[in-house]
Amino acid sequence: MQTVKVEIPQNQAGSYPIFIGQGLLENAGTYIKQYTKAKKLLVVSNNTINSLYGEEVKKSLEQAGYEVYFLLLEEGEQYKNADSLQKIWTEAIRLKLERKDALIALGGGVIGDVTGLAASTYLRGVGFIQLPTTLLAQVDSSIGGKVAINHDSGKNLIGSFYQPKAVLADISALKTLSLREFKVGLAEVLKYGFIEKSCGLSGLNSSFSLYLMENKASIMALEPSIVENLVKYCCRLKAAVVNKDEKESGLRAILNFGHTTGHAVEKCYGYKGINHGEAVAIGMKGAFFIAMEKGLISQKYFEDALSLLNNYEMDYRIEKNISIDSLYEAMQVDKKVQSGKIRFILPVSPSEVRIFDDVNKQQLNNALKKLY
Ligand SMILES: NC(=O)c1ccc[n+]([C@@H]2O[C@H](COP(=O)([O-])OP(=O)(O)OC[C@H]3O[C@@H](n4cnc5c(N)ncnc54)[C@H](O)[C@@H]3O)[C@@H](O)[C@H]2O)c1
Repeated sequence: MQTVKVEIPQNQAGSYPIFIGQGLLENAGTYIKQYTKAKKLLVVSNNTINSLYGEEVKKSLEQAGYEVYFLLLEEGEQYKNADSLQKIWTEAIRLKLERKDALIALGGGVIGDVTGLAASTYLRGVGFIQLPTTLLAQVDSSIGGKVAINHDSGKNLIGSFYQPKAVLADISALKTLSLREFKVGLAEVLKYGFIEKSCGLSGLNSSFSLYLMENKASIMALEPSIVENLVKYCCRLKAAVVNKDEKESGLRAILNFGHTTGHAVEKCYGYKGINHGEAVAIGMKGAFFIAMEKGLISQKYFEDALSLLNNYEMDYRIEKNISIDSLYEAMQVDKKVQSGKIRFILPVSPSEVRIFDDVNKQQLNNALKKLY
């Protein structure tokens, strides 16, 4: 078992451990004991995850002396909405949860985001613990305190920043993920390879991209020591960024590498037929094409980056019936637009990115055309 600490200097409540290892869910009670004084715990999950891991989590939490209740939400991104939030509030009120009690998110990013928002608002804030069960949630969404629901007008439009008290990333849970869902997380993992040097992690002496290239077979085979190291390193990179910029006033924006185009693609598909990781993989390729248009990177780095993406079979393409104009329109209503300018995170050298507000329409058009 390995631990990464998130320590946000401006936020006293923003210091917590991320435990990473095998068998953490069956020992959840022992791990969370020192991070909550709760009497009652409300575990929020869905049917699929509950049928796989609910029983062991319940048993462990009860053995640790908690009163444990479960609320199962409908499954899917479309349920990351106000109805689910309302259901959690209603259940918390029915159970008479008090401020010292806690909500536990057992699931992927959808469950984590909606449960975190409920925890941040119910009684103006109760304890919140993340038990992430997807690769994406373990390397990304469970860390850093962004919690949100979607609105009909766009993803994650209603949310807040609310840090968990602890995160338990049990890598054994990844065994039951479908390959497609595993690859969603891998897209975010590859993203860390492209932004590594910009994250501000001290003592960097290796290349994460190289590690990913060299260990592909072990990663795909879920070799525990390799996956544990991979999750740990991604958590360290994300924690380094969040520690410096909790509320995304600057540096944190680099975590959106690939997401400007990625979110536009997801939106144009109506969030159906393509998932977040696939869209982000397209968006990361788009960022490399834009960087070439702007003359920011060498041909060698461009080719290395594309070959890393292709090596992980991230060779997705935008369907022909989605027009460049509709992508452009979608980018203009994204949260990342500032003073009317579309913001891109672009590569400038190996593993290094910068924020750009000056991509012109011609450069963007030329790059987007190559994504079909
Ligand atoms: N808060 C943040 O900082 C942040 C960052 C990135 C993404 N997100 C959000 O995360 C969400 C996506 O999260 P996700 O990719 O984890 O998807 P998800 O939560 O929808 O989970 C994917 C699917 O896998 C199933 N599942 C989960 N764990 C499983 C397991 N161990 N075995 C078998 N099936 C399992 C789920 O039931 C679901 O059907 C999006 O809503 C996105 O906006 C948030």
